[in-house]
Amino acid sequence: MGRENSRSAISFCSIALAGVALAASASAAGCTRETLTKLADSYVKAQTEGKSSLVPLARGAYYGENDVAMDIAKGVLAGPLKIDFSRSFYDTTQCAAFTEVVAATDPHPYVIHTRMEASEGGQVTRMESVVADQGDWLFGATEYLNFTKAENWGEISKDKRDTRAAIQAAAEAYINNWGDPALPVPHGTPCARLEGRAYTGTRDPAAQACTMGAFPRPLATGHRRFVIDETVGAVSIFHDFPFIDAGLPADHPGTPASQMFRVEGGKNRYIHESTVCTTPGCGRAAGPGAGKGKGGPGGANGAPGTPAKQ
Ligand SMILES: *[C@@H]1O[C@H](CO)[C@@H](O)[C@H](O)[C@H]1NC(C)=O
Repeated sequence: MGRENSRSAISFCSIALAGVALAASASAAGCTRETLTKLADSYVKAQTEGKSSLVPLARGAYYGENDVAMDIAKGVLAGPLKIDFSRSFYDTTQCAAFTEVVAATDPHPYVIHTRMEASEGGQVTRMESVVADQGDWLFGATEYLNFTKAENWGEISKDKRDTRAAIQAAAEAYINNWGDPALPVPHGTPCARLEGRAYTGTRDPAAQACTMGAFPRPLATGHRRFVIDETVGAVSIFHDFPFIDAGLPADHPGTPASQMFRVEGGKNRYIHESTVCTTPGCGRAAGPGAGKGKGGPGGANGAPGTPAKQ
């Protein structure tokens, strides 16, 4: 919230990218894991200290928050944040890093998902964040912190790793299903979905609780940007989430959203979503505990975007 003027900046040509199967390359040559680890560490330090200059931006690099281009020194990195938890993963093929940042005990709580594309030498050419705080979709940093830090996103042994394509396919099946509820989604067991403060894994931690009911109308989610790390079976997808934000016109391509997936054996095991809203609760959630359709928060079949009160 607090970024109400920003939506018009969302690129409409992004629609053309809907359904593109392969991620675009940041650095054709790729880069080392060490380079990307250093980059993510620098980013977390920069945010902790409120010193954006610690991020090694290349000349002419793009920096944006919630799909709005801005000066990195004027955004959320302008001030220090007490970071309670962060989790990063690395795409050496594309030379890109993804970091999940949770600041729950800061006076201004945030959940920030950040992706950085870099040159082989580790200069950031594109950096974009989905910056969520109070008023964004089901926002609750305290709950988000509790659930994310309890999950295992650790290294997967070499003989059990999925290919990049398999990881991407499992994750994309989830959002492709929003456009066609008949499309199958490979969810593993157990599987839990975290959206803001809502976690589908609480009722039965051993269950496959990731399946989502259909939206009231099919949604085409475009402008997808990927970070894929085979070593931990993880993929981040930034995209435009149509429909969910009632503050936007019906034909709008969508509000900025980030989904991250942990995939094991070609199946989704954890899904995290962070989605920003132009209007409190995207004009749908009716307050704490109100949520997503029939099941409510934690409901295994609750479809985000289904108004809690009809
Ligand atoms: C914290 O997470 C654990 C494990 O996921 C869960 O059982 C518990 O209910 C959560 N607590 C709160 C307050 O949400």
